[in-house]
Amino acid sequence: MTMDASTDIWIPLCNATDLIERGDAIPFDVHYAGQTCRGFAIRFEGQPQAYLNRCSHVAMELDWQPNRVFDASGQWLICASHGAEYQPVTGECAGGPCKGGLVKIEMREVRGVVEWQTAYNLKTVDF
Ligand code: FES
Repeated sequence: MTMDASTDIWIPLCNATDLIERGDAIPFDVHYAGQTCRGFAIRFEGQPQAYLNRCSHVAMELDWQPNRVFDASGQWLICASHGAEYQPVTGECAGGPCKGGLVKIEMREVRGVVEWQTAYNLKTVDF
């Protein structure tokens, strides 16, 4: 079986300089498994990372204060509801009541632009 590479495309999100190391996340909308959801992008140890903004404890967005997803130490992503913590590079659970990790969205940085990649279950909202 061959994969149709045209279904997985890179979508520009923001300028690389807009994504600040351990700073505010940049939100974006995605169509995930048939639902419109919010994703967020962060920069950690120089690399852009992105996840579905959906806690694995209860399907709630992580941030009460918009786009604040890092904890006070800047080491972990934290859910404001009950304190689940996630590893910023992998999205794996790092503590608290999470039941698994965050859903990862592939990112890259090309010529000063941060882009995210669609997947079979992850699309733009305007397709
Ligand atoms: S909803 Fe995220 S920790 Fe409970």
